[in-house]
Amino acid sequence: MSIQYFAKDRTFYLSGGDVSYVMHVTPEGNLMHLYWGKRVTDGAIIPRIDCYPEGASFDKPAQHQPWEIPTHIGGWYGQAAVGAVNEMGDDLTELKVVSHEIYPGKRELTGLPATYVEKDGEAESLEILLQDALTGLSVTAVYSVYAETGVITRSLRLTNEGKADLQITGLLAASVPLYGREYDVVHLKGAWARERRVARQSVGQGEYRIFSQRGASGHEANPFIALCEKSATEFAGEVWSMNFVYSGSFLAGAHVDNNDNTRLYMGMNPDTFRWLLQRGETLQSPEAVLVYSDAGMNGMSQKYHALYRTRLVRGAWRDKTRPVLINNWEGTYFDFNEEKILEIARRAADIGVELFVLDDGWFGRRNSDNCSLGDWVENPEKLPHGITGLAERINALGLKFGLWFEPEMISPDSDLYRAHPDWCLHAEGRERVQSRQQLILDMSREEVQDYVIEAVSRVLRGANIEYVKWDMNRNMTESFSQGRDPRRQLETQHRYMLGLYRVMEKITSDFPEVLFESCSGGGGRFDAGMLYYMPQTWTSDDTDAVERLCLQYGTSYVYPASAMGAHVSAVPNHQTGRVTGMRMRGEVAMGGNFGFELDLSKLSAEDIEIARQLVCEVKQAREITGKGVFTRLISPFEGSHAAWQFVSPEGDQALLCVYQVLCRPNTPPFRVRMKGLIPGAIYEDEAGNRYTGDVLMNMGLWMALKGDFTSRVVRLKRAN
Ligand code: DGJ
Repeated sequence: MSIQYFAKDRTFYLSGGDVSYVMHVTPEGNLMHLYWGKRVTDGAIIPRIDCYPEGASFDKPAQHQPWEIPTHIGGWYGQAAVGAVNEMGDDLTELKVVSHEIYPGKRELTGLPATYVEKDGEAESLEILLQDALTGLSVTAVYSVYAETGVITRSLRLTNEGKADLQITGLLAASVPLYGREYDVVHLKGAWARERRVARQSVGQGEYRIFSQRGASGHEANPFIALCEKSATEFAGEVWSMNFVYSGSFLAGAHVDNNDNTRLYMGMNPDTFRWLLQRGETLQSPEAVLVYSDAGMNGMSQKYHALYRTRLVRGAWRDKTRPVLINNWEGTYFDFNEEKILEIARRAADIGVELFVLDDGWFGRRNSDNCSLGDWVENPEKLPHGITGLAERINALGLKFGLWFEPEMISPDSDLYRAHPDWCLHAEGRERVQSRQQLILDMSREEVQDYVIEAVSRVLRGANIEYVKWDMNRNMTESFSQGRDPRRQLETQHRYMLGLYRVMEKITSDFPEVLFESCSGGGGRFDAGMLYYMPQTWTSDDTDAVERLCLQYGTSYVYPASAMGAHVSAVPNHQTGRVTGMRMRGEVAMGGNFGFELDLSKLSAEDIEIARQLVCEVKQAREITGKGVFTRLISPFEGSHAAWQFVSPEGDQALLCVYQVLCRPNTPPFRVRMKGLIPGAIYEDEAGNRYTGDVLMNMGLWMALKGDFTSRVVRLKRAN
């Protein structure tokens, strides 16, 4: 059993794999956090005061107490997990445990993305019901623990069972106190084309917050935060982390109080979230995924990867290898016609590419980024045979056909805007601020959702489209909705997300065989919420191979390689101007869902041959890169080298990928020690060299790479 309640001590134990999460109900009915970390014997923690973080007390004031759901009552001075303003105008909420329920499996979160189980035995769940007697607010804390890994999911469900309306001003999915303050905080910072850079710093008294108010999880921060021991490395040390299964604005933080205790939290951003909870209504928070590891950052990442690849991503493409694609964006931008597209596709088919993706510019009068979003009808000047005819011609070349959309947007210069100027997010009397000459459709409105569902579905029904790139190229500014009750205007961002999730659920389930890839100005919405609907995400608009080392390395902290779109583009690179060789570009892109994004007709004969060879290699490797265990070996953030590896689930095959950015003269070879192989097994590389697993892991392989921007991929197969 993964979850137990010990009535004598009034303690809950959530145990799975090597992890325990323990809570205690005090004699007064308060729910307190006791422990989250390496597994302890179920029932073994006696909830005495010395089991609480230093400075904690069973007595008021509340500040140093290890609340499981902190609220503003009795002197809690940190971020409230539940903020509820009542009819008296105060937000005091005193939650007392009423009952609990333990059940096998894991229930869905209505209208929200969430991790799932296929069999009840995979996880067990606990719902603890708490109530505030004065306002009638009931809060259900929902936990699931995955039996094998000890990954814990946590959300809150609020129901107004009182007599008056409540204004919800704060809602965290999880907030967990840890002992002491000897931690570093780790997160993924960034910007457009520089997404998900690993950031790590010491925490001290005060609060370290990462957040988005942009209405998308964003380029700037990712909804991921971790605390780790100061000595933790990629391979060793304790890590406590949270990731939000949500694609909108969020707030995450590490708060060190004046007694040197640290609290980690994740949830809705109170600056962009309010909710009027009327009598009888329920509000469900998105889910946070809590991963503990005592095997460093890789240990943490591997738990996220396994869970997200198999129990977050859904649908026909979850377990299938992904097609090698070519996308025309960097090859042509808006300047294309059918002939040019077919020429690129012909050359792509010749080197073994399997899918052609037509990017932005195929609809309305869109020859630049200043018009036509919303008018999802093909441009006959560019495509005389329409999308249907183009798809047929691409299919005749032996390629699947895929199409780009940006369904959440509306250009002021569009037929849609002329017909429905009120359909964009805006505030009366304020400027409708444009970004990339576009506004955002108000997806919080059902009629707008229905329009988007029909507009996209009509195109998908009309042609043999087997892949969709779902883009979203600006953040929210005036996130308000025409005609909404003023008391509900600050609900708009969350209502937008709920509307978007409804649209995505409908379209992806109506077209179950289509492979969907989400995108947001590159990787501006690379999050677990999107992965629930679309199994892969465009990692970044930066396609430079050197930058991609950092991008893919950082992204892998949470998200599996099978989620990352990774393309080989032209040189000089359009974002950095850097010139790298075709082989290195290919061997970097091999670490994700491989594709090309260039005009193949402009490549030299030599590069075409390398590209052809790369496609063969990718097809051989993609089963392991898609489903194997990924381990980061050398960080590109720390020097001129980078390395990572994939090992097949059975341990009988491995792919070691090593990269050198700049070469220095007269430097000794460097050693790369592999991980996760079978010690006594014999592995053979392509040159016929044989090594035992323990030699590869303990002594390692010596690498001597010559030249800037070089790479080496070693393919190992078990030989005994
Ligand atoms: C941003 C995406 O990240 C690019 O790949 C491309 O699809 C453009 N949008 C098209 O406008």
